[in-house]
Amino acid sequence: MKYPFLRPNPPKLSEHVDALKKIESSGWFSNYGPTNTEFEKEIVNRLFQGKGYSTTVSNATIGLMLAIKHAVEIKRPSVGKKPVYAIMPSFTFAATAHAALWCGLTPLLCDIDPDTWLPSSESIEKLLKEHKGEVAVIVPYSTFGNGLDLAWYETLQHKTGIPVVVDAAASLGSYSKDGRHFGCESSIPIVFSMQATKSFSVAEAGLIYSDNKDDILNMRKMGNFGFSETREAILPGLNSKLPEVTALIALEKLNEFKDVTESRRKIARAYDSALDSSFQRQKLTGELPTYQFFPICLPDKYLEGDNRSQLIRDLALRDVEVRTYFSPVIHDQSYFAKRCEWKSLKMTERISKLSLSLPLHNFLKLEDVRFISQQLNECAATKSASKRRKNA
Ligand SMILES: Cc1ncc(COP(=O)(O)O)c(C=O)c1O
Repeated sequence: MKYPFLRPNPPKLSEHVDALKKIESSGWFSNYGPTNTEFEKEIVNRLFQGKGYSTTVSNATIGLMLAIKHAVEIKRPSVGKKPVYAIMPSFTFAATAHAALWCGLTPLLCDIDPDTWLPSSESIEKLLKEHKGEVAVIVPYSTFGNGLDLAWYETLQHKTGIPVVVDAAASLGSYSKDGRHFGCESSIPIVFSMQATKSFSVAEAGLIYSDNKDDILNMRKMGNFGFSETREAILPGLNSKLPEVTALIALEKLNEFKDVTESRRKIARAYDSALDSSFQRQKLTGELPTYQFFPICLPDKYLEGDNRSQLIRDLALRDVEVRTYFSPVIHDQSYFAKRCEWKSLKMTERISKLSLSLPLHNFLKLEDVRFISQQLNECAATKSASKRRKNA
């Protein structure tokens, strides 16, 4: 395939032999070593204006498990009947639902906004009313790097006493309109992914950020078996520590991240101007995110039969690989269907059936973007023309 969907671009370790040798001679390979600690400080300094705190985790899935467990057992331990639900969108990746299930909670699925594709606030409020006293945590997903209204979630948390944990897997490099990084100074824990396929491409890695120092320190301890300084388990624990070598890749990514962000945004703008206006763009709540891919929504005719699959095959014949995030949605996956609860998810159904994700990586040139857009515009126009001929 000449235009593959993904081309992960983590920094090349082979270009950092001296730093690798330093790690080897230090004898410190994990356990929150000096490279990891430097990264945790530097990412706060450079992306979050030196405000707030962070802890690395081995990946965002484990980060979500830690943050949810911390929210329900440490932040808001239940008295009496245990609340059982974790409200989250169905329009998300499997990891969000898995994390809640690993914490012994039942995902209660909310609908999304038709324009921003973020969790719908009306849908969340409705679920909270219908399940009063039964909701343990709210886990909104910051869809494709689009900014959630964190002030709204902070107020909701305050009003209901139900803790919030944000799945921001694709949001490292997303800024709000005031130029601050998404999540900056938020008291809510925000979980980012640094998986190789993300814009902040490392390997397997994640980050939990919050303005609350105690929460971050607790989650850092929880990631080290829940140990106190005397190695006694005082908190729920697992092992989520990042190896020093991975922390080195993360530090190097941070050094080159400004260029990554700018080039990905340029590509996103090029898609926006080259694609036909019949393709719905995601309505952004902040600045242009550092997209992991370029998401669009196809026109309604692609709801019929296997029109979308045919379009994907047509594009593959033209050497363009596209994907469909998030389709199937959570409630359409057999493992989750038996373990989640939901009622009507009209917008989720619609958007997921029409969604199409276009390649966006740092090896794409602007002429590639124009080529891909042209193929999509042409394939879709051919479909319309053949349908008009059929109906004539
Ligand atoms: C919405 C969402 N949440 C969580 C994750 C999990 O991230 P990780 O691969 O770092 O575990 C992903 C990964 O793509 C994701 O898209």
